[in-house]
Amino acid sequence: MNPLVSPAAAPLLGVNIDHVATLRNARGGGFPDPVRAAQQAVEAGADIITFHLREDRRHIRDADVERLKAVITAPLNFESALAPEMLDIICRVRPQMVCLVPERRQEVTTEGGLDVAGQFDRVRSACARLAGCGCRVSLFIEPSAQQIEASARAGAPCIELHTGAYANAFDAGDDSARQREFDRIVAGLKLGRSLGLQTNAGHGLSLQSTPAIAVLPEVSELHIGHALIGHAVFVGLTQSVRDFQATIASAVATARGR
Ligand code: PXP
Repeated sequence: MNPLVSPAAAPLLGVNIDHVATLRNARGGGFPDPVRAAQQAVEAGADIITFHLREDRRHIRDADVERLKAVITAPLNFESALAPEMLDIICRVRPQMVCLVPERRQEVTTEGGLDVAGQFDRVRSACARLAGCGCRVSLFIEPSAQQIEASARAGAPCIELHTGAYANAFDAGDDSARQREFDRIVAGLKLGRSLGLQTNAGHGLSLQSTPAIAVLPEVSELHIGHALIGHAVFVGLTQSVRDFQATIASAVATARGR
């Protein structure tokens, strides 16, 4: 069994700060600073700071990554495309965690999961290289048996299941699609665990759609960005992190009778 797996605990919260950088870049200056946001999120209770250095640098930039590494005390989760340039940067920066994601220039956000089965040799060699650099590697994949089994064979200790379809169905009030996507996530988590993987979840989750995922005992980490930064517009970043942590904690306590 993977030693990272801790089934009884509430999932850790990874706060994705990309959208603070998006806001900063809208005006070309240095405000608001995503590194300051990361510091504040950690002080408010974020367990992990997540960011995605995209190949087009549309939000997080190289200098942000260097500063995050220098000042943030919580583990950093570096989301990255499977690109040689990115792997070089990661092996120089050495974040504690790396999450390999698919990336297309035209997309608004990460659409779909990484096709591990379809580019198996590339993924396996990236997993080996990143592990050799001391990073815990996670693969961001659809909750499909084919991708989960390929991830385990590729040597990743961890997967993050894409919750976007579930979250979209939840937000649209489409109960049958929500249930179908939820069932896929549950089955995927169980399969991942049975293969000895740490199983995380993320994408598109809001305060409302998070609890049902947070209570699943196989979920070790939740990675949340857009809705948490959006909520911060109204309540402030400190309160937003606290609201998400409280929502997760209370859902887990209720589900586990504590
Ligand atoms: N997990 C992964 C792998 C992602 O790529 C993203 C988006 O960057 C997230 C989680 C967070 O998604 P959202 O911003 O929709 O909460």
